[in-house]
Amino acid sequence: MQKIGFIGWRGMVGSVLLERMRAEDDFAHIAEPVFFSTSNAGGTAPDIGKPLPPLGDAYDISTLAQLDAIVSCQGGDYTKEVFARLREVGWEGYWIDAASSLRMQEDAVIVLDPVNRDVIDRAIGAGQKNFIGGNCTVSLMLMALGGLFNAGMVEWVTAMTYQAASGAGARNMRELIAQMGALRDGVATELADPASAILEIDRKMVADMRSAEFPSAEFGAPLAGSLLPWIDTQLESGQSREEWKAQVEANKILQSGSPIPVDGTCVRIGAMRCHSQAFTIKLKKNLPLADIGHLLNDANEWVNVVPNEREATLRELTPTAVTGKLDIPVGRLRKLSVGPEYLNAFTVGDQLLWGAAEPLRRILLILLG
Ligand code: HSE
Repeated sequence: MQKIGFIGWRGMVGSVLLERMRAEDDFAHIAEPVFFSTSNAGGTAPDIGKPLPPLGDAYDISTLAQLDAIVSCQGGDYTKEVFARLREVGWEGYWIDAASSLRMQEDAVIVLDPVNRDVIDRAIGAGQKNFIGGNCTVSLMLMALGGLFNAGMVEWVTAMTYQAASGAGARNMRELIAQMGALRDGVATELADPASAILEIDRKMVADMRSAEFPSAEFGAPLAGSLLPWIDTQLESGQSREEWKAQVEANKILQSGSPIPVDGTCVRIGAMRCHSQAFTIKLKKNLPLADIGHLLNDANEWVNVVPNEREATLRELTPTAVTGKLDIPVGRLRKLSVGPEYLNAFTVGDQLLWGAAEPLRRILLILLG
């Protein structure tokens, strides 16, 4: 298992994946990495510290079929177009994918090895070939709360999310910054004058946000200075598709037998690449907070419990603190006034790392043995 193809490595998730693979020297374990392009076959492959052939054509099924594994960050449309055709010609290699298209298929495993290594190992043993990264909020929730889930302590969870622009894509990140700039530029004169009236500044800003010229083509609405309580498409159930994923994907990752209800409201906010989530967790019993802290902290090497104190929370439990790091802080741990079995928790995680690229590079290493 040595000839590995990489597709979609130039996009945002793919770039983070490459960055992580270079940082961890993962390419030292891969005899023959091959990079592909959907638009620039024959072009120059990225610098990974060893000689590489020119870029292959990402739609050339017969070339792809010679690979032992394919890692795709190209997106769902590419997966839909290529994956089935490859299997049809009898290709039996591993398909590793960041896109959601195949996630809920019976023959696909959702990978998050610090949480479900046992599920992954059983799947490999059973000859399964499709390993798919989970939805970012779901993966970040399970990285944070894995200790309670795996101890069988969770009766149900609500997850109220505060999702960053990066989850919607690179263009959305740019648009968020453009919106921030437009808001500031529109009131720059008044802002420079400490004697100006704040309500007048606010009126001008709102008028800008509501105007047709405000840059909002990507999000479809102003995000800077506001928030958007709908992510992804609308389902019959009244949930957004992002909200629907929480329960189905979390339970598929955990393979825990009886499904655990997980639901909430998913909200886009003006952070760049860290998703935050506020949880209400109904525990199966009245566990002391100290025991809860130990269960959470011991679950994996990236999660860490932040004391439920103002200073520590503002220092460690914000998108600003966590961006670009693999750390998964979880804090605001306290029993809610509704009863001793109701736990409050808050977590922040980098949406491009554990939320997207990291589980993919790790499953590749697991499959390489
Ligand atoms: N769907 C997520 C979001 C990102 O829009 O934030 C990908 O999991």
